[in-house]
Amino acid sequence: MEYQSILLDFHEGILTVTVNRESKMNALNLEVIAELTQVMRDIRKDEHTRAVILTGAGHKAFVAGADIAEFAAFDSEEGEAMSRDGHALMNLIESSPKPVLAAVNGYALGGGCELAMACHLRIASTNAHFGQPEVNLGLIPGYGGTQRLVQLAGKSRALEMLMTGEMIDAGEALKLGLVNKISEPEELLNDARALLSKIMKKAPLAIAKVIDCVNAFYDNKRDGFEVEIRHFGASFDTQDFKEGSRAFLEKRKARFTGK
Ligand code: COA
Repeated sequence: MEYQSILLDFHEGILTVTVNRESKMNALNLEVIAELTQVMRDIRKDEHTRAVILTGAGHKAFVAGADIAEFAAFDSEEGEAMSRDGHALMNLIESSPKPVLAAVNGYALGGGCELAMACHLRIASTNAHFGQPEVNLGLIPGYGGTQRLVQLAGKSRALEMLMTGEMIDAGEALKLGLVNKISEPEELLNDARALLSKIMKKAPLAIAKVIDCVNAFYDNKRDGFEVEIRHFGASFDTQDFKEGSRAFLEKRKARFTGK
């Protein structure tokens, strides 16, 4: 499929998806949301893609938010529709059975911070800044920021960031647990690939189950302990479990197939 606002690069099982609107700080317009949604749907069915990196074009911005110029004249109905589409994308990323890592190469503001937070892992370059500045516009976050920031940073710091609209730098984001690691800008993508490569050596179905169990913790409609029990049990019927346990006993490396 042809995309207008994102770039795709596939290498050794990892699909790197770059939001490509550098002159607009990679702001998320409706087209980017639709294209990212399509990609995230496609990778579920694509057996070659084992993991995803999300990043932004250029050296300044990961994504500097939803596109203010595009929504400036929206009414409440359009605003709610925009928010629902954004939520659908963020939920698709968060529930992806394949790990998704945000390589945050600069400003991650508003929808950009929300996009990064929907990913399973985040690595920030030293020049990254995170923030939810929507209150400066008379708005609130609309892509899950009021919920996921609390999950990642805790209620006090989340409320402070959400109510002041102030940015924090990469070091502060690391202290808050908002990011897993900080990298030099030129090492960011290498470090992202190295972290995903470690995960890709493990059993893919087990990775998908771990993601689902952890997501269940934050889903008040599901009992995470019960989800774990069921996924644990189901693991015993996989070929990868048989291979993993046999490989251990035979003192060799397991060769997982994702079956
Ligand atoms: N939506 C639409 N356009 C955006 C944008 C956004 N969220 N963020 C940046 N841009 C555009 C600017 O309007 C400017 O376009 P122009 O060259 O046509 O005037 C271009 O990107 C460059 O941005 P600029 O503000 O000149 O760069 P800067 O280095 O001075 O500042 C930021 C960078 C990220 C701090 C600043 O652009 C900013 O605060 N952006 C908005 C962040 C925001 O409020 N996000 C939440 C939206 S809900």
